[in-house]
Amino acid sequence: MPSYNIVNHSYDVVVVGAGGAGLRATLGMVENGLRTACITKVFPTRSHTVAAQGGIAASLGNMGPDGWQWHLYDTVKGSDWLGDNDAMEYLAREAPRAIYELEHYGVPFSRTPEGKIYQRPFGGHTTKFGEGPPVQRTCAAADRTGHAILHTLYGQSLKKKAEFFIEYFALDLIFSEDGVCQGIVAWDLETGQLHKFSAKMVVLATGGYGRSYFSATSAHTCTGDGNGLAARANLPLQDMEFVQFHPTGIYGAGVLITEGARGEGGYLTNSEGERFMERYAPTYKDLASRDVVSRCMTLEIREGRGVGPDKDHILLHLNHLPPEILAERLPGISESAKIFAGVDVRRQAIPVLPTVHYNMGGIPTNYWGEVINPAESNPDAVQPGLMAVGEAASASVHGANRLGSNSLTDLVVFGRASAIRVGQILTPGGSVPEGDDRSVEAIVDKFDKTRHSNGGIPTSEIRLKMQKAMQEYAAVFRSDDTLAKGVEEIREIASSMNDIKVTDRSMVWNSDLMETLELENLMASSLATVKSAHARKESRGAHAHEDYPERDDKNWRVHSLAWVNETNVEMTYRPVHSELLYSQDEGGIDPAIIAPKKRVY
Ligand code: FUM
Repeated sequence: MPSYNIVNHSYDVVVVGAGGAGLRATLGMVENGLRTACITKVFPTRSHTVAAQGGIAASLGNMGPDGWQWHLYDTVKGSDWLGDNDAMEYLAREAPRAIYELEHYGVPFSRTPEGKIYQRPFGGHTTKFGEGPPVQRTCAAADRTGHAILHTLYGQSLKKKAEFFIEYFALDLIFSEDGVCQGIVAWDLETGQLHKFSAKMVVLATGGYGRSYFSATSAHTCTGDGNGLAARANLPLQDMEFVQFHPTGIYGAGVLITEGARGEGGYLTNSEGERFMERYAPTYKDLASRDVVSRCMTLEIREGRGVGPDKDHILLHLNHLPPEILAERLPGISESAKIFAGVDVRRQAIPVLPTVHYNMGGIPTNYWGEVINPAESNPDAVQPGLMAVGEAASASVHGANRLGSNSLTDLVVFGRASAIRVGQILTPGGSVPEGDDRSVEAIVDKFDKTRHSNGGIPTSEIRLKMQKAMQEYAAVFRSDDTLAKGVEEIREIASSMNDIKVTDRSMVWNSDLMETLELENLMASSLATVKSAHARKESRGAHAHEDYPERDDKNWRVHSLAWVNETNVEMTYRPVHSELLYSQDEGGIDPAIIAPKKRVY
């Protein structure tokens, strides 16, 4: 092993990532008396959750009738019947409890005149099992909900004595010889020191991989690091073909304009000034599910009704809304529109375009956050010592398409669930397995090899090629032809990693090396995405396949599992969970209500 000094630590639990899911998990763990370290490559309050705008869904019923059963139905339909029913039921039932906890922790939610948490409409959230008008289910702190949640959870975690290792980059997971996850090796970016964290449980909360694409609302730090860690540990990535395009990224900049803008009454028009969503989704119009809206916008542009000199985008109107509503409920996006599009939302429409926003796929887990490592005899077998929560995970509550504002719900519900589960299966204190030395050696060897890469192609060049190829071949609409090209090109680009050039060899604040490690992680996700998309011969949710325009439940109501090994990807599949948690006698819902049917808005 190359000679690196390694600092050793030992914890009950190590959480990797300090966004909404990582912080909620960390907080729950320390509340359970577990000695917990949270390792994060960015300062916690700079995690990408800070950018979440519109809100967090829960059936509080503050603005009118609502119930967890309606929320469950909408989530099932939003997922295009690919979500796991037990996990979706857990989310819908637990969401109100998780929100009231946030309120008690101190999240400064916007309020109704009576002092209740303010809730706004969001796409795909309805009443009466999709038969009634849109529901106001999305709890908001103006249009800075993620910011409010993140700051509160970080403050609470510090108060409860969670230990933070800030600006530490996770290199790889440590496994025992018999396959139990026993910790992680991380690199302290500030001092250059390597650290070994031994733990009884590792929780990956590393977020999505939006930066596999050229244009994304995701922060540049969203590099799918957990997916990379899992893939290198020979664990599968699930449902990676389902990449969400948010309808309203600012044209050119890709910056998010919240769906809450349409929730507050905003609407889209084409070059003819037509509110075209009325044609495609007569009932819910601009508040149809976001995969639907993104496809309709793309069709309008394709058919020559885009706006601007190149007819390549769409307009979002808020200029008819009262200025006091804009100031009170949408101050953040009013500012973004000014800065990134030069638009005064009180007077002008915002130029927008569907932009990569969220990854439904990720590390497969059950609804406790335990990672699934399927065996032939058991498709739901649990990987000992490892959990995943938040966007890094595929629980699977979003299936083929996530409803807006169900992401923050996912973060806090499953962050919290992972802590409840660990509280059940681990006892605080006592001995922590050291972690296999050979596993640590292999991790350090790999790190050293990357650090000394001396090929001919700079990291940034390979990354840009990958991002452009993903943008072109794994887009809103796909076909056999584009996907076959995508698989071939991404494989070729991934092979060029063997000729990568890292110029800076230092250990302190070496952003060249860190970006290279991030690119390795992104590449695993990109490979899995194009391969899974090419393999899936149907259209479902965010996977709109032009050669197979219909959903095919008979053959394809299954989760894709992509096993990435260098540039190779093997596909297997596991069944969707159609069982609910509770029977009707136990207060559950009639399963017939959520049985698959045609998805119309
Ligand atoms: O539009 C938004 O505010 C995004 C919300 C979400 O992705 O859940």
